Amino acid sequence: MLSNNPFSILAETVSPLAMQYFIIAMILLIAIGTIIQMIHHKNLTYFFNNAKKAKLSATKELGIGEKTSIIAKTTVVDIGTTSELGFGKRRLAHVLGMYGTILFWLSSAVLVFCYTGVGKSNSETWSMLWHIGAILTCLGGYWFWFFLRVDVSAEAHPWYRIIKADLFVLALLACATFGLAWSYTQFNNQMGLSYLFLTLFVASNLILFGGVYWSKFAHMFYKPGAAIQKNLAEADGSRDNLPPPADAPEQFGLGIKREEPKHY
Ligand code: HEM
Repeated sequence: MLSNNPFSILAETVSPLAMQYFIIAMILLIAIGTIIQMIHHKNLTYFFNNAKKAKLSATKELGIGEKTSIIAKTTVVDIGTTSELGFGKRRLAHVLGMYGTILFWLSSAVLVFCYTGVGKSNSETWSMLWHIGAILTCLGGYWFWFFLRVDVSAEAHPWYRIIKADLFVLALLACATFGLAWSYTQFNNQMGLSYLFLTLFVASNLILFGGVYWSKFAHMFYKPGAAIQKNLAEADGSRDNLPPPADAPEQFGLGIKREEPKHY
């Protein structure tokens, strides 16, 4: 099943062109949802005003080379490993889900555009990557959903309590889960079930990408921007108008060892 391209078999009933248009429509939905969210929440305006204000208190002018190196380091370390989540389960779960999703989306596009339709060859590698991406998304996402979510792990709410903020993670998990279920049932020739899971897969994609405006989807664009701005502000001495760190040693007393921090 892992080396099977489910889109290729689907092409016997659905035109590959329709699948390609579907992917393009999803990309447009991301762009529209994010732009409307930025206009409505005014976060981009706040971000640029803040950066402009901070620049006034800069103590050092950064050259192009310095800026490039800070941006490259931030991309690899801070963004690539979600370093703001510290060391531990939360970061590992996020990294699994993040790379899983990137792999799942990228391989979906490659499979649909390059390996689906009459006369197109098969790519076991890309089919495998599609399944691995979905499995990693499920691993990281379900770990987060059942055990790590703040309202579950720190506020003792039951895991099945659902609020609007869960739209993103639930839609993402639904896409990966129904995608895998569709591939599995299609591979085993359970045609009725396979069409049911395909319908659920399409519906969860529409909810995930159509819900960008209401969900946390766009954090994947905002967070990298904020990390780059923070590191540039630290290097040019403006520190986002925050006071410099105290030079006294960090002494919290023994009480800090009593309980694992769970206050977000
Ligand atoms: C394809 C890219 C990404 C995906 C699929 C993804 C997925 C997720 C998911 C599902 C959540 C849980 C949302 C919730 O609170 O319900 C989350 C939270 C979070 N994401 Fe991402 N993310 C991506 C990129 C990024 C990037 C690039 C950063 C930072 C540089 C980032 C930082 C965070 C942080 C700090 C949280 C809060 C985590 C927590 O509460 O444990 N994410 N992300």
